[in-house]
Amino acid sequence: MDRNKDNLVSPPGNTVVVNGEVFELFIDRETIHRRIRELAGAIMADYSGRFPVFVCVLKGGFIFLADLVREMDMDCEIDFIRIASYGDAKQSSGLVTLEKDVSGDISGRHVIIVEDIVDTGRSVEFITELIMKRNPLSLKFLTLLHKPESTEVDVRLDYVGFKIPSRFVIGYGLDYAQKGRNLPAIYILPRNGT
Ligand code: IMP
Ligand code: MG
Repeated sequence: MDRNKDNLVSPPGNTVVVNGEVFELFIDRETIHRRIRELAGAIMADYSGRFPVFVCVLKGGFIFLADLVREMDMDCEIDFIRIASYGDAKQSSGLVTLEKDVSGDISGRHVIIVEDIVDTGRSVEFITELIMKRNPLSLKFLTLLHKPESTEVDVRLDYVGFKIPSRFVIGYGLDYAQKGRNLPAIYILPRNGT
C-alpha cells in the first residue's frame, strides 16, 4: 500500500486497501483542488454581494466544505445537517432519515447544500423537501461527485465537481463502512470488485 502523500499527482496504478478491498487512484489531489478553485470562483460570481449559508451534509461533505470555503473570498455562513441513508456499505437504499438538523434559521436566506456525492438522488430529494419547508430565499445544490447513470429521481444540481461512472468510490470524505474518509484523493473500486 502506497498512499503517496507527498506526490500531488500520484503515479497510475497507485492503490489503497480498505476493509480488505483494493481501490485504485481515480482523482488525484491536485485535480480535486483545481476543480474546487473553479467551483469557488463560480459561486463567488453568482453570490456576489450576498451572504449565503453553506449547509454541509455530514459526514461525507466535511472535507469538501473545508477546502471550498477556504478558496472563497466572501462572507458566508456554515451550517450542518446529518442524514442517514440506509443500505449495505456499498449500495444506498434510498431510505433517508434526518439525524441532525441545521442549527440556524435559514428562512429568507440563500442556501447552498454541499454534498460529497449524488448517487440515486434520494438524499437530494429528501433535503430539498426539508429545506423548502423553511422558506429559503433560494436553494442550490453543490456536489463534488455525481453518478448520473445511477440517479433515479429528477434532481437539479447547480454545481457539480466531477461526473463519474456508477462505481463505488472512497476518500476525500467518502467512506467504505466508516473507513477511508481521510484519504487525500478519490479512489475507485475496479469494475470486477462490485
Ligand atoms: P443518494 O443515493 O444519492 O441518496 O446518496 C446517498 C449517500 O450514499 C451519499 O450521500 C453517500 O454518503 C453514499 N454514497 C453513494 N455512492 C457512494 C460511493 O461511491 N462511495 C461512498 N459513499 C457513497
Ligand atoms: Mg456514506
